[in-house]
Amino acid sequence: MGETLTRWKRVCKSKKLKMNKIRGKAIGAKMVLVMRTEKGLFGSDALCRHMAWPIHWGGKIKDGCLRCPLHQTSYHPEDGSVNEWSPAHYFPAYGRLLGKLRKPTPLKTYDVREHEGYVEIDMRS
Ligand code: FES
Repeated sequence: MGETLTRWKRVCKSKKLKMNKIRGKAIGAKMVLVMRTEKGLFGSDALCRHMAWPIHWGGKIKDGCLRCPLHQTSYHPEDGSVNEWSPAHYFPAYGRLLGKLRKPTPLKTYDVREHEGYVEIDMRS
């Protein structure tokens, strides 16, 4: 029981996390997010690996991927791997330039569960 209390951290109420939506929260010094997709519940670091934008601030689930609103980098929710790196669809030349500032890097992912009406994340996973 004690391990359960320390291992799992509550991010939001389950009913607040709708299908294809994202919720973020600061837990200790880390900002994390949880997302609900057609494939299930997933959790990851919230700061985009491109230029550290908090993805839950305007981010979306698009075509099953977690997409950062700033330059549209997208990640696979299941393992955090990069789907597209800084494509900046509104101005691709700008995106290519910004994409070179940092090499494509995956998001760290965490185990997530629903428990007693809350979405919880395992920060140790
Ligand atoms: S900061 Fe997220 S795509 Fe650039």
